[in-house]
Amino acid sequence: MRRKLVAGNWKMHGLRSQLREIEAIVAAARTHPEVDALLCVPFTLIAAAAEIAGDFPIGAQDVHENDQGAHTGCVSAQMLVEAGAKVVIVGHSERRADQSETSHHAWAKAAAARRHGLGVILCCGETEAEHDAGRAERIVQSQIEKSLPDGAAPDWLTIAYEPRWAIGTGKTPTLDEIATMHAIIRAKLRGMIGSSANDMRILYGGSVSGANAGSILAVEDVDGALVGGASLTADKFVPIIEAAAKIAAG
Ligand code: PGA
Repeated sequence: MRRKLVAGNWKMHGLRSQLREIEAIVAAARTHPEVDALLCVPFTLIAAAAEIAGDFPIGAQDVHENDQGAHTGCVSAQMLVEAGAKVVIVGHSERRADQSETSHHAWAKAAAARRHGLGVILCCGETEAEHDAGRAERIVQSQIEKSLPDGAAPDWLTIAYEPRWAIGTGKTPTLDEIATMHAIIRAKLRGMIGSSANDMRILYGGSVSGANAGSILAVEDVDGALVGGASLTADKFVPIIEAAAKIAAG
């Protein structure tokens, strides 16, 4: 039985003045032990957030593939662990677009995170042009093929399917489209790692909100959500955790 996971991605948002949102989110999440929740915050906020979050996991949004070295401006997995991070997002489409990251980078970053005991949320997803050209399935399968780290296992790796055209746009695929793509991803994972793929969580991401979380999270093979904009305040994020909890409670 896969527990639902509601993961927030604060992207380049978050100053210390917003720690009170994290406090409120953590407090609400504690009242729903039947689901998992976490927040990936900017590097600069990890230590302070981890300190107030206690056993609620705080994560990062990127990691360098090397453990140390001459990589100006980069942050290693060991540094994240020391700051208090428990998990890291790799292969997010904004990094693919803005920093020219490839699936190979995601693969190497996931491996680095794993070496140091971090959980990993590995993102995949097609662009609007790829979607419109009917190439989404092939693109996503190829991303998984190239980025799935060695030793991929459900206890440390989570997949996030995020169609790029749905991120921050208010647009979402139909529930049928989400179900189809999640089934395709699960089948691909089974082909690569066998039956343990049945226990691996596959999150949906892209314009998830309190209004649509209930229907999206009820879709077969959707094991949670990766949430950007709606994770920034407790007001918006807690209803998504509640929607997941409601489904978990049956
Ligand atoms: P969004 O972002 O919820 O703001 O669409 C999702 C993501 O990029 O992870």
